[in-house]
Amino acid sequence: LVASMEEVEETYVMVKPDGVQRGLVGDIISRFEKKGFLLKGLKLFQCPKELAEEHYKELKDKSFYPKLIKYITSGPVVCMAWEGIGVVASARKLIGATNPLQADPGTIRGDLAVQTGRNVVHGSDSPDNGHREIAGTVRDGFDAATEASDGFDAA
Ligand code: TYD
Ligand code: MG
Repeated sequence: LVASMEEVEETYVMVKPDGVQRGLVGDIISRFEKKGFLLKGLKLFQCPKELAEEHYKELKDKSFYPKLIKYITSGPVVCMAWEGIGVVASARKLIGATNPLQADPGTIRGDLAVQTGRNVVHGSDSPDNGHREIAGTVRDGFDAATEASDGFDAA
């Protein structure tokens, strides 16, 4: 095992507008629950254009970038923070390959999608990006006191 796989981490998972419109939110949440991860925060959210551009800034020179921003801002998304051992890499495995036709059966994209441009879900690619993405969405507006009483370990 890689050392980092044994650490408790948080990752950001977002059901994209097509996933919300198709009624796949429950199925997607259920897969993370059944795996054994802990839901730490959730928000239905209309992603502002500026935040979408920030979220996908590494892709801004790609030809598909304008369509990607239009798609992500086309309707509400469901933003979540999930906690668990090795959850960053594990969530990416549960989600499957970027191109749903190449994603293995049993993964979210492999089971539920066909097109790369409509691949129903996002998962952070690193713990640092996870923290940044959670802070800008699920926990945006949360103050320290609210966060301190969040979760099951509160008295
Ligand atoms: P990327 O970060 O490469 O994939 P992932 O979501 O698996 O981390 O790309 C972000 C999103 O950009 C991807 O989920 C769908 C979209 N995209 C396209 O529309 N066309 C493409 O060719 C690629 C690579 C991505
Ligand atoms: Mg990515």
